[in-house]
Amino acid sequence: MSEHINILAIGDVIGKAGRRALQQHLPDIIDRHMIDFVIANGENLASGRGITPNTAAEMFRLGVNVLTNGNHCWDQRDFMKIIESDDRFVRPANFTRHAPGRGWTIQETAGGIPVAVVNVIGQIFMGPWDSPFEAVDRVINEIPEDVRIIVVDMHAEATSEKMGMGWYLDGRSSFVYGTHTHVPTCDETIRPKGTAYQTDLGMTGSYQSVIGNKVDGCLVRMVQGLPQRFEVVERGASVYATRVKVDVASGQAIEIERIYRAPG
Ligand SMILES: [Fe+2]
Ligand SMILES: [Fe+2]
Repeated sequence: MSEHINILAIGDVIGKAGRRALQQHLPDIIDRHMIDFVIANGENLASGRGITPNTAAEMFRLGVNVLTNGNHCWDQRDFMKIIESDDRFVRPANFTRHAPGRGWTIQETAGGIPVAVVNVIGQIFMGPWDSPFEAVDRVINEIPEDVRIIVVDMHAEATSEKMGMGWYLDGRSSFVYGTHTHVPTCDETIRPKGTAYQTDLGMTGSYQSVIGNKVDGCLVRMVQGLPQRFEVVERGASVYATRVKVDVASGQAIEIERIYRAPG
């Protein structure tokens, strides 16, 4: 029988509500679904804005192996320091060469199987970043060949750009998924050459919100066109995550399954 592992990917975790929902549900999900490796997007961990040392430590204690990032990467000043010293953090590989930290990392499961995690950010309706496609080519060239399992968090606004990345990496990665839009998509699939794909994992946060933020403030911006601070909804989070079973020898995906836990 060939060896396989289960990887759990969690999208943007929003503030205290998201963190609390993971405290409540993640240990059970890890146990029930026999999860070997956990990746979460941390860009909204601290009240919706970036990662602090404490919020990251909370996630690592719960069993998260790697925290990926996105456009909120530098919202917390301290993060510039901690990203340099801890290789469980990745930020988009196509940030400029001046950005501290790394765009990819290799961490091992408890059983000693290496998993490469890559983070890139999209260009459509986002910052003027370098091409995420060229960035993943560079990164995949750098990853040692004996590391068969490669997971890519494509942090992007446009569904088309994320789908393009899924196709671009088919056969060259185990799992490509989107984050950033905070709404789960039900298009999880395994591409013909063995890459699992989902356009957006969805946020772990409150869905009684506008992508995690309080409705009233968002409506002032949208309806009146007036400035208003975004405030995160800090209760009632749902957990959305996706499990992918990967063949260890080939790095190919065998199964993909969305996992959901209701609030409360
Ligand atoms: Fe986000
Ligand atoms: Fe984002």
